[in-house]
Amino acid sequence: MTSFVDLEAKIPNNVGLKDDPVIRRALETWQPAYLEWWRDMGPSDFKQDDIYLRTAVGVGRGGWANFGHVKMPDYRWGIFLADPETEGERKIKFGDAMGQPVWMQIPGEMRARARRLIVTQADTEPASVEQQRLLGHTAPSIYDMRNLFQVNVEEGRHLWAMVYLLHKYFGSEGRDEAEELLRRRSGDPDNPRVLQAFNKPIRDWMAFFCFTTFTDRDGKYQLAALAESGFDPLARTTQFMLTEEAHHLQVGENGIARIIERTAQLMKEGVDPRKVGAMPLDLIQRYINEWSSASYDLFGGEDSSNAAEAFATSLKGRYREGDGLYKDPLALNQNYETEIFENGVEKKVQIPLRRAMNALLLEAYHADATRIVARWNRVLEQYQLSERVYLPTLRFNRQIGLYGGLWFNPQGEQISKEAFERKRTEWLPVDADYQYVKNCMIKVWDRGKFANWIAPPPVGINNQPVDFEYVKFH
Ligand SMILES: [Fe+2]
Ligand SMILES: [Fe+2]
Repeated sequence: MTSFVDLEAKIPNNVGLKDDPVIRRALETWQPAYLEWWRDMGPSDFKQDDIYLRTAVGVGRGGWANFGHVKMPDYRWGIFLADPETEGERKIKFGDAMGQPVWMQIPGEMRARARRLIVTQADTEPASVEQQRLLGHTAPSIYDMRNLFQVNVEEGRHLWAMVYLLHKYFGSEGRDEAEELLRRRSGDPDNPRVLQAFNKPIRDWMAFFCFTTFTDRDGKYQLAALAESGFDPLARTTQFMLTEEAHHLQVGENGIARIIERTAQLMKEGVDPRKVGAMPLDLIQRYINEWSSASYDLFGGEDSSNAAEAFATSLKGRYREGDGLYKDPLALNQNYETEIFENGVEKKVQIPLRRAMNALLLEAYHADATRIVARWNRVLEQYQLSERVYLPTLRFNRQIGLYGGLWFNPQGEQISKEAFERKRTEWLPVDADYQYVKNCMIKVWDRGKFANWIAPPPVGINNQPVDFEYVKFH
């Protein structure tokens, strides 16, 4: 079934807001608060500039977005849910409600849990915009600046997507949550964002590209798990969000690849990257270690009763649950085997599978991230360099879960706290690294020009040339 897309409405949507006056009015009341938040906490400056952005205008395959120059405050943030497969026929594919038709409303006993899942996801969207708000000023090119702002406006749209669900299906509690989402602030000691990685400062573009590679990728896996949900509106909302999310991940992956390429060029020429304001590989590695490990923590504890409940209630599935990847859609009578450390001794443990849902999702994520790092290493290979970057194991630098508070090297061998501290400056960025990167962040805003620490992309956006006027300054 194809939904009607109303692009003329105050809030563009394909959810029939026109015929839903109560929710429409509620969202139209929330809209000015959102715009005020965007003005205060969205990208600092650049409000007058025309940015070459894509805007979601529907959910059909292939033709879901428009590209054109727009001023960010005029961006048309809309509410779009993926169309249902076949009306009313989708069946729940996992958990205790397996085989039942999907729910069009949230069952009462699942309300609180569903709301928590939605709020946790929703909170990350404005948080990342806040974390990135100053980066425009040091953009290494207008191509990159455009990508930054594209990610920002789409995170804003993801907030809209989640806020619609809160308003539509969770009554006054949902409305309160929607307001709180605009009140919390990334890094605010009194009213921080919900998840820790979303309170970390994104100081520079190295951090931005690592964030979009590793932290947005956590988002992809969380959204994918929610896209399986028995609560149909949640499933269809997150399905469409994943379409936009893919670009964010590419921005990160290609960004680091281009930084590595520039470094490799210099190394090949016998030039020390540090001498010319580019990024040495050891520093890139420390950033990878910092952002990948912070992102591992986002999955929650490997052994989790909360995760078990979310699966049992058919609210949150496994990665690609619906594709028939798993033998047992109930995930009963099976265990997940992993290792723990007791008094420094490694031993195997069995976690009942339902309790290990976070661990399973994290594993899928780690396999994906491993492929990305392998791609980065192919750049080094192409330049016939023997150096490589690596992805730390899931034990490294963890704050929560089975390995939280213990000490491991990036390869996953347990070490003493002292040994870790001795190596800390080799494995994780220190102030001198942040300072060095900061000094390299010199804006380059001429068409087709790029900062010295990053190679140009092989192709532009939407078939435009690399030297296209992606940002028109006014
Ligand atoms: Fe997002
Ligand atoms: Fe994203």
